[in-house]
Order: sequence, then structure tokens, then C-alpha cells
Amino acid sequence: MLTIRRTVLKISLAVVAIAASGLIAGAEAKDRNPCAKNPCMAKNPCAMSPMPIRKNMITDSARLMEMADKLWSDTMLGTSGNACATCHPNGAGLKKEPFPKHIKMAGDIVTMDQMINFCMVNPMKGKPLAWNSQEMTALGAYITANSKESAMPMMNPCAPKNLRGM
Ligand code: HEC
Repeated sequence: MLTIRRTVLKISLAVVAIAASGLIAGAEAKDRNPCAKNPCMAKNPCAMSPMPIRKNMITDSARLMEMADKLWSDTMLGTSGNACATCHPNGAGLKKEPFPKHIKMAGDIVTMDQMINFCMVNPMKGKPLAWNSQEMTALGAYITANSKESAMPMMNPCAPKNLRGM
């Protein structure tokens, strides 16, 4: 009789424990998901106005492409006297295969922004562009707009035939 009572007690304790842990787990999951709360509540982080990427936003894509074309031919972007267009005239060498990808010259798998900055600091001998700069966005826009399935051959400003005219 006593053992039966003990067993019943043990089982009911176990049931209570399982139910309680379920409640706790449910509450924790809710805490972890910041959007599970009522979106109309003032403190909901998902309802807050987002922090902008930059103060000087770009909203006009035609103006962005104008800026992109100018920057591509800008020999003052770095200090080597080269522009992106010196080696990549009309987007030569820009391939459609999406980033991140392996770039032989970089010896690494890079995102588009990382490749832009690789060329900024190496062939251009300039400073890396800020991740949130308009210039980074404009060069990215140029690359996306001008990359080709089978890229045009690039210009090598260091090759003797190209140096002749310099
Ligand atoms: C002196 C020549 C030179 C200049 C100037 C130059 N690049 Fe490059 N760039 C290269 C070479 C060489 C490669 C090819 C690397 C490889 O595939 O190994 C390359 C590759 C790239 C790629 C990857 C293309 C692809 O899809 O595989 C991007 C993007 C790029 N350059 C952007 C730029 C930008 C932006 C500038 C100007 C800020 C610039 N480059 C200036 C030589 C240059």
C-alpha cells in the first residue's frame, strides 16, 4: 500500500516537473524572439525605426550610375595614377559569376566589396573605401551593371605594348 502511494507521488511529481519545464522553455523561447511580442507595443525592437547605413543616403539610381561612371575613370581615387578603367576599360575583366568567389590575384575568396578594396589598396595604391561610403556603393553598382558572362580581356598597364604610349 505504502509503495503504491509512493509510486503515485513520484509519478505526480514527475508530471508537475515536466509541465513546469515546458512552461519555462516556452517562456525562454518567447524571450529569445524579440518579434514574438505584440508589434504594437512601444518597446518592440522590430517596430523601431532602423539605424540608417549613412546620413547621405542614395535613392536615385540614375544619379548613382552617373557617379559610378565618373569614379570608374577617376585617376585621383588612388595614388598610382591608374583609374579602375585603366585596367578594366568598359568593365573589362568583370565576370558575372557572383561574389564571394576566388580571385587569383587576391589568393583568396572575397566579397565584391573586399575585391574593390583589394584593387583600391594594390593596383590603385589608395586607401580602402569605407564599407558604408557612397563610393563603395557606386563602384559596386558599376561592377554589377558591367560584368559579363564571358568577360572582355583586361588591360595590363605594365605590359610593354601599353607602356609605349605613356
Ligand atoms: C593595374 C590594374 C588594375 C587596376 C587599376 C584595377 N584593377 Fe581590378 N583587377 C585587376 C586584375 C589583374 C584583376 C584580376 C584578378 C584575378 O582574376 O586574378 C582584377 C580584378 C578585379 C575584380 C574581380 C573581377 C572578377 O569578376 O573576377 C574587381 C571587382 C575589380 N578588379 C575591381 C576594381 C576596381 C573597383 C578598381 C578601381 C578602384 C580596380 N579594380 C582597379 C587589376 C586592376
